Amino acid sequence: MFQQVKIAPSILSADFMNLQSDIAMIERGGAGYVHVDVMDGHFVPNITIGVPHVKQLKKITDLPLDVHLMIDNPLEQLPWFIDAGADMLTVHAERLEGQWLDRAIDLIHAGGALACVSCKPNTPIEAIAPVISRLDMVLVMSVEPGFSGQGYIEGSEDKVAQVVELARDCNPDLLVEVDGGIGVKTVERVCAAGADVIVCGNAVFAAEDPEAAIGEIAALGNAARLAALERGHA
Ligand code: DX5
Ligand code: ZN
Repeated sequence: MFQQVKIAPSILSADFMNLQSDIAMIERGGAGYVHVDVMDGHFVPNITIGVPHVKQLKKITDLPLDVHLMIDNPLEQLPWFIDAGADMLTVHAERLEGQWLDRAIDLIHAGGALACVSCKPNTPIEAIAPVISRLDMVLVMSVEPGFSGQGYIEGSEDKVAQVVELARDCNPDLLVEVDGGIGVKTVERVCAAGADVIVCGNAVFAAEDPEAAIGEIAALGNAARLAALERGHA
């Protein structure tokens, strides 16, 4: 069945001094989620924002907060992010394996949020296979995490297709999100491969008209998805 692609603008590229008006702008543009990149300077080189910011964001928007944790100690911090109002929480498969990954998913679900696991570009999708039936979403990184504004890594759409294939029987409602270097030039290939949620940093916030950019990227993604569906893919 055809489902509309949703855009999750990453506020890492927003104007932090005017975040409230930037959030209002993406709401008007039809964003589906607010993507919040949490970086600790250890798991990735960059440092961004954390729990207090999520708490404040929750007060100013009704859009679901899609919180992407690129941190070394996710198990310790997950309960704080849940209390702060995160609606979706992504942990990285490179940081948590086996029973620890299960524990993270349990914590997220017990807190009433949606559970997502991400893979860096060089991590095979197989790292997610043991837990894929328990997840609400898988996040495929199409750049090396750490910075916005990087170029899309060619072939990342193959990983999207692999996730779709892996989930086909055991979790057909699983959402697939793609993050990094997505904009008008790259959205079609990831949506044709089956992506449901598109993270956009620079492609939205550095656009001349960010509101229109959200609509344009979503329209291209929807058309590509529909065409793939008609061909019998995705
Ligand atoms: C990278 C972050 C991304 C990033 C996306 O580590 O996870 O969410 O902000 O930015 P663009 O779309 O500019 O690549
Ligand atoms: Zn992200």
